[in-house]
Amino acid sequence: MDKIQTKIIKVNERKPEKELVMEGVDLIRKGKLVAFPTETVYGLGANGLNQEAVKKIFMAKGRPQDNPLILHTSSIEDIRPLVKSISKEAEMIMKRFWPGPLTILFKKSSLVPEIITAGLDTVAIRMPNHPIALELIKESGVPIAAPSANTSGKPSPTSARHVIEDLHGKIHMIIDGGNTGVGLESTVLDLTQKTPMILRPGGITLEDLQKIIPNVEEDLSIVKDDKDIIPKSPGQKYRHYAPKADMIVFSGKLEDIVMEIKTKTKEYISKGKTVGIMATEETKTRYEEGLIISVGNRENMETIGHNLFNTIRQFDEEDVDIILAEGVKKSQIGTAIMNRLKKASGGKIIKV
Ligand code: TXA
Ligand code: MG
Repeated sequence: MDKIQTKIIKVNERKPEKELVMEGVDLIRKGKLVAFPTETVYGLGANGLNQEAVKKIFMAKGRPQDNPLILHTSSIEDIRPLVKSISKEAEMIMKRFWPGPLTILFKKSSLVPEIITAGLDTVAIRMPNHPIALELIKESGVPIAAPSANTSGKPSPTSARHVIEDLHGKIHMIIDGGNTGVGLESTVLDLTQKTPMILRPGGITLEDLQKIIPNVEEDLSIVKDDKDIIPKSPGQKYRHYAPKADMIVFSGKLEDIVMEIKTKTKEYISKGKTVGIMATEETKTRYEEGLIISVGNRENMETIGHNLFNTIRQFDEEDVDIILAEGVKKSQIGTAIMNRLKKASGGKIIKV
């Protein structure tokens, strides 16, 4: 692929400067790629109704063609032409959670190009809760297709620096709006089946959704730690968020986790390996060896979600051979954190 001149612009995340956002709008309208911040992770955007533009997303990321994309809109009204129908349930959920970290699957209309849905009859749509994203979409006047703005297989980007690492020279613009908030990708909710089903856990949790749709369930691949269960959502089957180092996640009682990680650290170091320990605020002083990074606070698990992908990238920069990570409780946002740890480790979760 020819090298592309990547323009990086810094935009105020609370009050985006209109003239700067319009530079991105101009590129989207011309069928080019623009990376932009959302409240979850950075997205790699293209005009979602322009097949040729969307093709460039797959090329820049090295993304498998069978992995469908999310369309981003700036209002609930804008989704009507993209879907066959909107159920009462969907109306309620959109009203409650949009804009926000929730993607909803609908039956697609014929307006949505095949390349977006990878041939499926459903389309994933979300309205992000971020001033820059909303302004970019609104002014472009089209739904914006946007996967996470990372090279396929790498952790999703939570800062412009991460996007630069992965995509500089491959896309036309990166809008730098600082660090993202949630830090994990949106929850993907399928409302096209009889039972509402969470296909990917994220910032809007099972517990949040149960308040509006009590019969909502989680895909088996989320509930079980077993790595042989094939997820329903195409993107969930790939080893994602993979650090260069091997990674092992320990789950169970916190005290047991700490003891086990200490033992394993000694073992690996005696074999001449460099060890990274993904600890938490509550445990970080308990370790004596290895490169210890606290990923956040167990009492406030949102902080762990916020920092997770950056921490994985940090271990990569330090070039450790193996990462030993503490697991968290699988409730609220902890479900999404464990789901990402499961994928980062290729399913290596050890119960202690
Ligand atoms: O927070 C997010 O969702 C971010 C920001 C940029 O909005 N985007 C994101 O996109 O994470 P991506 O492409 O990295 O992940 C989209 C996920 C994939 O797992 C994909 O397989 C799934 O959504 N997906 C998209 N369309 C689908 C469909 N029609 N049926 C089932 N899964 C679908
Ligand atoms: Mg992704």
